[in-house]
Amino acid sequence: MKVCVIGGAGYIGSHAVYELIRAKHEVVVIDNLSTGTKDAVHEKAKLYLGDITKKEELHEIFAIECAKKPFDAVMHFAAKIVVPESVEKPLEYYHNNVEGVRVMLETMRDFKIKNIVFSSTAAVYGDVKKDLCLEEDPCAPINPYGETKLASEKMIQWVCKAYDMNYCIFRYFNVAGADESLEIGLKRDNLTHIIPITVQTALGIRPSMIVFGNDYPTEDGTCIRDYIHVADLAYAHVLGAKYICDNHVSLTLNLGSNNGFSVLDVIKEVEKYHPVKYTFGPGRAGDPAKLIASSTKAKEILGWIPRRSLADIIKTDIEFRKKHELKK
Ligand code: UFG
Repeated sequence: MKVCVIGGAGYIGSHAVYELIRAKHEVVVIDNLSTGTKDAVHEKAKLYLGDITKKEELHEIFAIECAKKPFDAVMHFAAKIVVPESVEKPLEYYHNNVEGVRVMLETMRDFKIKNIVFSSTAAVYGDVKKDLCLEEDPCAPINPYGETKLASEKMIQWVCKAYDMNYCIFRYFNVAGADESLEIGLKRDNLTHIIPITVQTALGIRPSMIVFGNDYPTEDGTCIRDYIHVADLAYAHVLGAKYICDNHVSLTLNLGSNNGFSVLDVIKEVEKYHPVKYTFGPGRAGDPAKLIASSTKAKEILGWIPRRSLADIIKTDIEFRKKHELKK
């Protein structure tokens, strides 16, 4: 396949590019480098600087590339993804995440590109009261980030119906870890996610950390999440793109592990390597108590199963940070 990866210089996008190249596909990356970096883009991928919210920029790149050979599929990773930031800056989230998807779809329609693989999120489900989230469950986001992803999902569904296109929407749970090559991983200023923050605290890169809330209705009072290794998640994109290209169907699939771990479980796992200094603080705005995926559908349809555990996630994140952050 020839695949256009929008946001391919970012954390998850760069891992998808690595997996596509390992599977011998041709990859073109479009990224505005707002959070991504050039050095995260695999040397075999072609990188264009471009902003997804600017139609002229996307059109120009699609015109150059599609004149050579049209894309079989587009993958979209170019989103803002930080839940608390979305509560503070909802307009920026709607602009980048929803308008960006609209411009991308319009460009795809104009160039007759038929297949879109879209990064959505477990945040579309909202405050879930049951043990496992199924794809058919009602969606009721409780923060602007989840709302922008749900709005994008719906737009994609209507557009695919109108223009005879196919989609593969993936709802990610908590993605973490680094590629085993340790070339790429989650590297940015102002990290907010629990695993890198815990690892940085363990490595002495930050002095201590706060556990947000210990009075949630869970066993140890801290929030439960379903952690999925970024390389497993990235590989699902290769399978998803191939599946919709070959079968001309559309899919919405959870990508998680069917397992939940609390914030304290994560800290305990990191403490197998180094002690972690933490204190308890109040719960964070927009945080549901528990989010765990049922990933049965991804297994049944794509034959996808996550191969790496929470221990692998933490090990690769520690090794990545030791290599890229401690040497400074
Ligand atoms: N947490 C802390 N201390 C920190 C950082 C996080 O206690 O310093 C807690 C949070 O309060 C939450 C848990 O760790 O309870 C996980 O928080 P993250 O920020 O790592 O991730 P979120 O669950 O908020 O969000 C992530 C993605 C979303 C996705 C969601 C799905 O960022 O895109 O997982 O489960 F929707």
